[in-house]
Amino acid sequence: MAKTMKPTEQTEVSEAQIAVHWKEEAYYQPSEQFKAQANMRDPHIFDRFALDKFPDCFKEYADMLTWFEPYRTVLDTSDAPFWKWFAGGKINASYNCVDRHLTTYGSKAAFIFVPEPEAERDVVITYRDLHDRVNEAAAMLRGLGLKAGDRATFHMPMVPELPITMLACARLGIIHSQVFGGFSGQACGSRIQDSGSRVLITMDSYWRNGTLVDHKVNADIAVRTAKDLGQDVDKVLVWQRYPGKYSAKTPMVSGRDFFVNDLLKDYKGKNIDPVPLPSEAPLFLMYSSGTTGKPKGAQHGIAGYLSYVTATSKWILDIHPDDVYWCMADIGWITGHSYIVYGPLANAATSVLYEGVPTFPDAGRPWRIAERLGVNIFHTAPTAIRMLRKLGPQEPRKYNYRFKSMTTVGEPIEPEAWRWYYDEVGKREAVITDTWWMTETGGFLGTTMPAIHAMKPGSCGPAAPGIHPVIYDETGAEIPKGSGKAGNMCIRNPWPGVMQTIWGDRDRYIKTYFAKYNKNPRSKDWRDWPFLCGDGAVQAADGYYRILGRIDDVINVAGHRLGTKEIESACLTVPEVAEAAVVPVQDEVKGRVPDVYIAVKPGVQPSQDVIDRVIKANEEVIGKIARPKHVYIVPDMPKTRSGKIMRRVLAAISNRRDVGDVTTLANPDVVEQIRTMVQGKDATTAQGELPEDIAQFGQVE
Ligand code: WTA
Repeated sequence: MAKTMKPTEQTEVSEAQIAVHWKEEAYYQPSEQFKAQANMRDPHIFDRFALDKFPDCFKEYADMLTWFEPYRTVLDTSDAPFWKWFAGGKINASYNCVDRHLTTYGSKAAFIFVPEPEAERDVVITYRDLHDRVNEAAAMLRGLGLKAGDRATFHMPMVPELPITMLACARLGIIHSQVFGGFSGQACGSRIQDSGSRVLITMDSYWRNGTLVDHKVNADIAVRTAKDLGQDVDKVLVWQRYPGKYSAKTPMVSGRDFFVNDLLKDYKGKNIDPVPLPSEAPLFLMYSSGTTGKPKGAQHGIAGYLSYVTATSKWILDIHPDDVYWCMADIGWITGHSYIVYGPLANAATSVLYEGVPTFPDAGRPWRIAERLGVNIFHTAPTAIRMLRKLGPQEPRKYNYRFKSMTTVGEPIEPEAWRWYYDEVGKREAVITDTWWMTETGGFLGTTMPAIHAMKPGSCGPAAPGIHPVIYDETGAEIPKGSGKAGNMCIRNPWPGVMQTIWGDRDRYIKTYFAKYNKNPRSKDWRDWPFLCGDGAVQAADGYYRILGRIDDVINVAGHRLGTKEIESACLTVPEVAEAAVVPVQDEVKGRVPDVYIAVKPGVQPSQDVIDRVIKANEEVIGKIARPKHVYIVPDMPKTRSGKIMRRVLAAISNRRDVGDVTTLANPDVVEQIRTMVQGKDATTAQGELPEDIAQFGQVE
């Protein structure tokens, strides 16, 4: 991505830029009732956060937190672009999310845990309970010798023990690195190795789609993978889904594996003072996919991150302490970290924590939960919205809940799905915020302010306070609003939620996010360091942004970022495979899914067996979410004369579009062979423009 473009490539890009046809959608206004109760109603808020007030405007965010020692500098740019927010202060995230609420909200629910089996009872965890459990867990971690700056890898499902253990780490300054529970043991192992964790914290089992899954088996694979990569894990801490009972079949390893519930017996009732930590100490790592095959650990620091998710939870999610908030995301992703754990808890929210699949046992489940628990703020992703709409378009009508606000996040949402969300789920009462952001940014970037801005289906809106986006073309020229042209979405200024670095890889951080548009690598002025978000976008005349998707060969599968290089490496672990190329295909529910093309080694017969093993390899190396939609064994890959695989041609074939001019390829004949194999002999191509992220796919190479 950070590579310089050759002149011929520039021409291609500018042609693609024009291909953004966008019907302007009608506005929807927030209700008077919503506006009257909203946390942020001041129309001057955006003046207060104008670029000429930067960075001091963000003091307002820091003021929402409780400090042990005040900070000295709002933004320290001395090591640009490694920003230090609120430098010189001392703070603790666990204190801000738990202890400071005890006097007023001690007996109020922090979490209401809803198990997937519908017959199993909810578990209410008050702020007092949360405090006690976090303290006991922190005492245990300290007892095991863990201290500030150590890393602990988690591979946990959606259970209260996950936020409890995260907050226990935060209390001591241990850097947690939660790997999405649905990722494979191998994926977890490589992240253990990268972070240098000596401890893995997991759970024996969890419910998923009606099955109690053996999850402990993944821990054994993770530890083995990490060891093969050179990282020893001394201890595996195993929570039990049903305390006191082991629900996995995989044996415990003596001397290495410990049941957390056994260890905790020694720490009953223990209190551990929250450690006053420097503002810029790391709070957690969150691994994410990028252009290369190696996942990158986005490192988030305590004070900047926490202030950002606290303020945006309050103003944009509009969380009040007496609301019942439910975010259906998984805590294993950044959305869960920011908007289930840290942001809502810092605002003394009551949150629903749901273990399972939204459509289990049927598409009415979310609405039953909402009705029963009085949920009034709802937060989910387009893929869940599409699925619930497909399986139960009228289900919401059967239930008597009332949402005041709803959020969508993770992928572009089609106006049609948006309108179903608004009309049916929100019953035309709830406001919708379409929040655009990413792992690296800690919190929302593009969004409406729900009581101030009108909504426009399919556009995320303008930007959050203090976020100043700019769309650049390939040459670094600004693309003006209303031009109808797309370009690379960047943010002109740093903001408190932005990642601090990529764990252990300062160069990659600069290269990936700044090199393209930074003109002076020595500059200490933040104005010289626009942040490259990795998405294409177009800005309408009204200032609203429409996000077109990733520009860096990352496929967004049901809101999960998967690097094509990671999938291709997984395919290459099958010994018969000589070459693999992965492309995104449009999918009605998941947005995008990967199609895999492989060429086998000379002398190997193409067979279903090879295909099955390629699928299995993806599930083992990455996880079930990386399961390809199709695997095609092709006689050869379409290649340029210099031998590069033309993924764009494959993407056009998979998406049933015209492949365009392929006469300059080294092997143009193979394109027609592949097209026939995938589309059939006389397949007609699909109508309509190819979405920008797919049209642009493969440009990075
Ligand atoms: C995409 C998830 C359109 C985008 C918070 C981004 C979106 C990637 C939206 C980050 C949205 C996220 N509209 N696209 N509202 N929100 N995206 O790191 O392509 O898992 O770059 O963070 O999701 O995914 P990540």
